[in-house]
Amino acid sequence: MKILIIGAGGREHAIGWKLKQDNAGLELFFSIGNAGTATLGENLGLTEISDLIDFAQKHEIDLTIVGPEAELVDGIVDKFSDAGLKIFGPNQMAAQLEGSKVFAKEFMRKYGVKTADYNSFRHYVDARDFLDSYEHFPVVIKASGLAAGKGVVIANDLFEAQKAVREMMHDNAFGDAGKQVVIEQFLSGFECSILSIYNGKEIVPFISAKDHKKIGEGETGLNTGGMGVVAPNPQFTAENRNEFVEKILKTTQDGLQKESLNFAGIIFFGLMVTQDGVYLLEYNTRFGDPETQAILPLMENNLLQVIIHATEGKSIQLHWKNQHACCVVMASGGYPLNYDKGFVINGLERVETPVFLAGVQKANDQFLSSGGRVLSVVGIGDTLASARELAYDNLKKITFDYAYYRKDIGNNI
Ligand code: AMP
Ligand code: GLY
Repeated sequence: MKILIIGAGGREHAIGWKLKQDNAGLELFFSIGNAGTATLGENLGLTEISDLIDFAQKHEIDLTIVGPEAELVDGIVDKFSDAGLKIFGPNQMAAQLEGSKVFAKEFMRKYGVKTADYNSFRHYVDARDFLDSYEHFPVVIKASGLAAGKGVVIANDLFEAQKAVREMMHDNAFGDAGKQVVIEQFLSGFECSILSIYNGKEIVPFISAKDHKKIGEGETGLNTGGMGVVAPNPQFTAENRNEFVEKILKTTQDGLQKESLNFAGIIFFGLMVTQDGVYLLEYNTRFGDPETQAILPLMENNLLQVIIHATEGKSIQLHWKNQHACCVVMASGGYPLNYDKGFVINGLERVETPVFLAGVQKANDQFLSSGGRVLSVVGIGDTLASARELAYDNLKKITFDYAYYRKDIGNNI
């Protein structure tokens, strides 16, 4: 079989790695891929959806799997399907669950999915006036559209809240993504990521995961795309999981059916567990990065069969190794702000656990950094402590100038 994977990060490397582990004979193509995916298949330099469709038709691709949200929100699934090509992911309408926070919150409210109270605004003056009489700080201000993880501001007081709303709605700091905003109740607790697979009828959850989103140790500093993940999430109890299934998963499933949002793809629930139980912060309609790098090595099923079953609307049962994973991201110093590229990466061949490349290109037989999040190393062990130790012992074999990683992934949880 021939599979095309859209994307260029550690997530796509991990998806390809898992597919190849279970099905050695697969032919994999990536667009645009990176130096890691090049070890599993062929990297294509195609970014336009029409070029990808041409390629898939000419080379008789059996299935396409989409990593990033931008292509999903742009309607890649509708376009591939219209061209008679099989593709795994939500259609453009369903991708709004991630692409529009207003759409997502309206869906949650309509179907009783447990989430923070909110108001949404289309006009700057309305948001400004609403905040003037708001009393429960901190408050959370969210640009409705895709903003590469930067569109959420936790405002501690009225001044910060007004500044965030002004920047988004008046000064167009996020372009069209900030034309509408959601102003939402602040929830405090711990976060948990739950990925799941949807076959158009039923949502089947994966094991839980804990992302470490901040750049600094002890969850300090700026937000990033994710600096490390442990799975399962040690804070997430069986009771939390039951509440998630009853109040979030089932209500979401019911809403998807009633709205005829039928697709085969991934639904990623971003949860906040508070004193008052489990709340849904957001949906993503794709594999998480770096959650995927930690979770897929623990999956016992053949991922390709699972995905094919989903595209055929067949029921899915997932099985997981009774182990723990710890994924630690190595970034380029300066990320998530300014950082340099082109540093030579040494020691990859000495690593004895899964290592997934993200911002890495190969030139003249050398691996060179080409992004902020450069790579991730995953340790798998019978305990979280042993998984952590394995991840860090192997990570230390890799060197490049200005490498930065958090030393507390999976620690003190
Ligand atoms: P989102 O893109 O909606 O997941 O928001 C990004 C991050 O902002 C989340 O991972 C949380 O850390 C934080 N966040 C979002 N909504 C809230 C909320 N209602 N209360 C507290 N923190 C939040
Ligand atoms: N790690 C969070 C995300 O993929 O959005």
